Amino acid sequence: MPSNSKKNLKETKKTSLEVVKPIKTKPYNDIDLNNWKLYENVKTGTWWEFSSREKKNGHSYDYHGNYIPQIATQLFERYTKKNDIVLDLFFGSGTSGIEAKNMQRRCIGVELKQEMVDYVSSKFTPKELVVDVNIIQGDSASLDTKNKIQDRLEIMGEKFAQFLILHPPYDDIIKFSDKKEDLSNCATTEEFYELFKKVAKNGYDLLEQNRFAALIIGDKYANSRYISLGFECQRRMEELGFVTKAVIVKNITGNEKAKGKTANLWRYRALSGGFNIFEHEYIMIFQKTKLKKVRNTNS
Ligand SMILES: C[S@@+](CC[C@H](N)C(=O)[O-])C[C@H]1O[C@@H](n2cnc3c(N)ncnc32)[C@H](O)[C@@H]1O
Repeated sequence: MPSNSKKNLKETKKTSLEVVKPIKTKPYNDIDLNNWKLYENVKTGTWWEFSSREKKNGHSYDYHGNYIPQIATQLFERYTKKNDIVLDLFFGSGTSGIEAKNMQRRCIGVELKQEMVDYVSSKFTPKELVVDVNIIQGDSASLDTKNKIQDRLEIMGEKFAQFLILHPPYDDIIKFSDKKEDLSNCATTEEFYELFKKVAKNGYDLLEQNRFAALIIGDKYANSRYISLGFECQRRMEELGFVTKAVIVKNITGNEKAKGKTANLWRYRALSGGFNIFEHEYIMIFQKTKLKKVRNTNS
């Protein structure tokens, strides 16, 4: 055989071997680890910045307090498989549902305000509202809502959800309603933490073992001091049994409405009050899994 033909045969063998290389995925996403270099779009760092908010593919900035859709895109690619069910217990304007549908995932969303449920329902067709995106009006901290979610899961052919999203009010920073069950309407921040933990407990119980949850939250200032809502809520997630996998800091500058108008005022207040202006929020990632035995760091 001429040396060239030998070389060609070698190359053909190599190419056909490459073609049959099996897809290697984890049980919680569709990322092919044998082709991991192709996933440049998937963020793996702890600092997230998006130049602008996605306003296409069904998304719009129609609700003060909705999160930017690229967060959902990143989270769903990393922590869900096609057809998985995403459970969002603070559904708001339905960002999670829209992106779940765009990415061929399914979603169950719970929202306290009936008018938001009606509005968000109009973003989907009647068929989608049964098959792809189930919306429930209710208090996510209650047993009644937990039972309703279990019923919907059963209708959708599942016992558990495969991913949990918690994007609660940041205490009273934006007041969403006057309802007593509303986490933005608590008399004290302690009460906010208590209600948050009840919602997170429902989420924990409804999430499949070894699957992931994301908490999107920012901190606040009150009475001239910094209040770490994010880390306080993280602690409550851990108390419920979640294991923290990542704490991501997301740049919020440019993603907020009307910030430019008050920027100078805030800068003056910061200079005179000794505090700094918020430019970030957190995306915390948790897993419902058994914690491996860790080395005792106490002497
Ligand atoms: C920060 S917003 C979520 C926005 C949503 N991620 C989006 O992209 O549109 C929080 C939402 O939680 C709702 N909420 C507050 N307390 C609730 C509760 N106990 N049960 C269910 N929803 C609640 C509020 O009405 C509000 O729409």
